[in-house]
Amino acid sequence: MDIGSFQGRLEALRVGAISDIGAAADLDALADVETRILGRKGELKSVMGGIGALPAEDRPKVGALANPVREAIESAIETRREVLGTAALEMRLLAEREDVTLPGRSLWRGGLHPIRETEREIARIFGQFGFVVVESPEVETDALNFEALNIPADHPARDLWDTIYVQPPTGTPEAPPDEEPRWLLRTHTSPGQIRAMRATEPPIRILTPGRCYRYEAVDASHGFEFFQVEGLMVDEDTSMGTLRGLLDAFAHAMFGAGRPTRFRPGYYPFTEPSVAFDIQCVVCDGSGCPACGRSGWMTILGAGMVHPVVLRNGGIDPERYQGFAFGMGTDRITMLRYAIRDIRAFLANDLRFLEGFPA
Ligand code: PHE
Repeated sequence: MDIGSFQGRLEALRVGAISDIGAAADLDALADVETRILGRKGELKSVMGGIGALPAEDRPKVGALANPVREAIESAIETRREVLGTAALEMRLLAEREDVTLPGRSLWRGGLHPIRETEREIARIFGQFGFVVVESPEVETDALNFEALNIPADHPARDLWDTIYVQPPTGTPEAPPDEEPRWLLRTHTSPGQIRAMRATEPPIRILTPGRCYRYEAVDASHGFEFFQVEGLMVDEDTSMGTLRGLLDAFAHAMFGAGRPTRFRPGYYPFTEPSVAFDIQCVVCDGSGCPACGRSGWMTILGAGMVHPVVLRNGGIDPERYQGFAFGMGTDRITMLRYAIRDIRAFLANDLRFLEGFPA
């Protein structure tokens, strides 16, 4: 064999290889071609094996002939590999394509607790009349929960509130300056009235929502832990008429326009006169049913003109200002809104119950 025919064999190998590489349909086929030609026992190896048959003076030229052939084949494989790789990726993308125009699967968004939702609705309605929400603590002093509200220690009206007394909380910032405070869990949100009057000057229009506690036997309509919303308005020109108009607007916004309402005489030591505010029964529309004790009416809150003693305890001059206050049971209002029969459902944390309310 001479160097010329050696070169011819290399050239034939190159041409065949380039065409096979171009014909490889996918990456696997290309890998086969690569092994067949460049592999350890491949065609290039076997052509090179013919080197021994060359005359000795021709052998040094072999490298100069073979290297460009090898490089040409390698670069053809590389190019083809890129082309096939991109095509494979595109095929995969087509096959795995997501239709982003399909409607998604909906997920429950979570919702407010029904008590919270009712508190917000109450705040929204009174907010339209300029009432703002303020906070008042659940751990309270006897002085604010009772004394400042015109309920002295020996007063029989204390029997209205079965009270849970507690150890003094540590680090409580607000122990009043007077004698050693007696601590309790507030039995109503009314101490919030005193705090609001002491914190600001009239005119005052506030709501204080929150938890209250009484030493109660728990049943379907009584919890030892329950919710109230207190309202207080103090100004130079407030009357029972203002109170009635405001409560009517509230009852109509909450329970439907046109629902009849009434005031009944009531008693609270911190208001004078005092009333119970009733709405016509939302179950029987007044004809009388078990839900309203066959009376046709349901009491939704207690109210009255703020007692002058209470105004004075709040640092307000009763000669110049009057005001009214009201306190409603948030649990009861929520039960009426959603026809819930058992107050215990609110704090039982049963998700099947809680998920039933609008988000
Ligand atoms: N604090 C009273 C109660 O818990 C309700 C009330 C509030 C009555 C404000 C009159 C004025 O029963």
